[in-house]
Formats: sequence, structure tokens, C-alpha cells
Amino acid sequence: MKLLIMGRPGAGKGTQAVNIREYYNIPHISTGDMFRAAIKNQTKLGLEAKSYMDKGALVPDEVTIGIVEERLLAEDCKDGFLLDGFPRTIAQAEALDAFLKKNGIKLDAVLDVNVPQEILVRRMVGRRVCKNCGATFHVEFNAPKVEGICDNCGSPLIQRADDTEATAKNRLTVYDNQTAPLLEFYKKQNILKTVNGDQPLDKVFDDIKVVLGA
Ligand code: AP5
Ligand code: MG
Ligand code: ZN
Repeated sequence: MKLLIMGRPGAGKGTQAVNIREYYNIPHISTGDMFRAAIKNQTKLGLEAKSYMDKGALVPDEVTIGIVEERLLAEDCKDGFLLDGFPRTIAQAEALDAFLKKNGIKLDAVLDVNVPQEILVRRMVGRRVCKNCGATFHVEFNAPKVEGICDNCGSPLIQRADDTEATAKNRLTVYDNQTAPLLEFYKKQNILKTVNGDQPLDKVFDDIKVVLGA
């Protein structure tokens, strides 16, 4: 399975990516997670990415395209992968298309997790992530068993730096302006599969399996 997962900020891409990764046994490649890891390790890439992410703006295409292509050439992507949060601009989508063609790779599907704009700020502001294993929770919609503690590994949960109300709103605007046009790009290629992301978590995953032909 060679897949992309798209959707507005907070739509549930990362949450469903964990299910998809386990079910299809493919690596989950999230550009947001890659940038956050670089910030944590205080690398040059991290320093550059942080200045954009803190505002809710996109990291420049030149930087982003290179790291994804390098990652896709790794051995574990040979039989499949799930790209989350990339591409996000027409330039990224065109670069990805050219890269896939050059390497004889064909995408099986582009998933669009569709959630109305109105509920997304609440999803982002209430999100809590594990410092250690990256598991995602929500204070109201997907609460951990013990407040502030990861169910998987017992580590403390933290809030993402870009999950403030103001930054979340800006990320939604950036999505509408720069990323939403990609849906048409993939629709034209006949590989776009839309699922309703405004449902309980398990139901969203059931629908994903249906559109992917299980
Ligand atoms: P990135 O990390 O990709 O963030 P995003 O696109 O804003 O998406 P999120 O991770 O916020 O949302 P999600 O859809 O994964 O939702 P989640 O499953 O966590 O990017 C961050 C930044 O990095 C960008 O702003 C940019 O600066 C930079 N960047 C990344 N990629 C880039 C690129 N290609 N080019 C340039 N810059 C790039 O769920 C959200 C919350 O909702 C959670 O709390 C969850 O528990 C809850 N939830 C999930 N599903 C449900 C449900 N069905 N019902 C109720 N609650 C739910
Ligand atoms: Mg995510
Ligand atoms: Zn954890």
C-alpha cells in the first residue's frame, strides 16, 4: 500500500495513521513529526522549521521536498508507505509526482479525512501528545485513563507548541489557501478517497478500510 493521508489540521490524520500503519504494516512518514523531532534535537533543520511552525506557516518547499524524497528512498518504504502532511502545496505535489515517476512508484490512494472547519480548533487546543512515544490523546474526545499520563508508556503528556487557538486558526487558513487545491489535483488522477472524519475514531478507521478495499 502506497498511500497519502490528507485533511485539515486536526482532522485526525496522525490518529488514523497509527491504525493504518499497524493494519497494513507500512511506515508512517509525517513531515510534522520529522520537523518536531528536528526541533527537539536542535538541528539546523529544526531551527529553521521552528520559526515557521510557531506561526502556523508552512516550512519552505525546498527544505521539505528534500527530506521526504530522502526518506522515501529508505529500504523500509520499498513495499509501501503512508505519507502524512505531505504534500501540502502544488509545488510539493508536482515534485512528489516527478519523484514517484522517476522511481517507478505508483500511489494506490490519497485519503482525505474530511472534517468541518468549525470543530477543528477545539480538537487542536484539546490535543495532548506523549513526550516519549508520540501517542495522541484529547482532553474531551479521547481522554487518557489517568489525566496527563500516556496510556501506552506512562510518560507525561504535553501540548504541541502550535496548538494555541491563534496558531490553530492560522493553520486552518493556510490549509484553505495552499493545501485544499491539492484535492482537485488528486481527484483528476482518480485516486482521491474521501472519508467522513467527523465520527467516532473507530468508525473513521472502519470507513478507511472500506474505501481502501480492506
Ligand atoms: P502537522 O504536524 O502535519 O500538523 P497538521 O497538518 O496541522 O495536522 P495535525 O497534526 O494538527 O492534525 P492531525 O490531522 O494529525 O490530527 P490528530 O490525529 O493529531 O504539521 C505541523 C506544522 O509542520 C505545519 O503547520 C507546518 O509548519 C509544518 N509542516 C508539516 N508538513 C509540512 C509540509 N509538507 N510542508 C511545509 N510545512 C510542513 O487529531 C487531532 C486531535 O483530535 C487529537 O487530540 C485527537 O485525539 C482528536 N481526534 C482525532 N480524531 C478524532 C475523532 N474522530 N473524533 C474526536 N476527536 C478526534
Ligand atoms: Mg498530525
Ligand atoms: Zn507514550
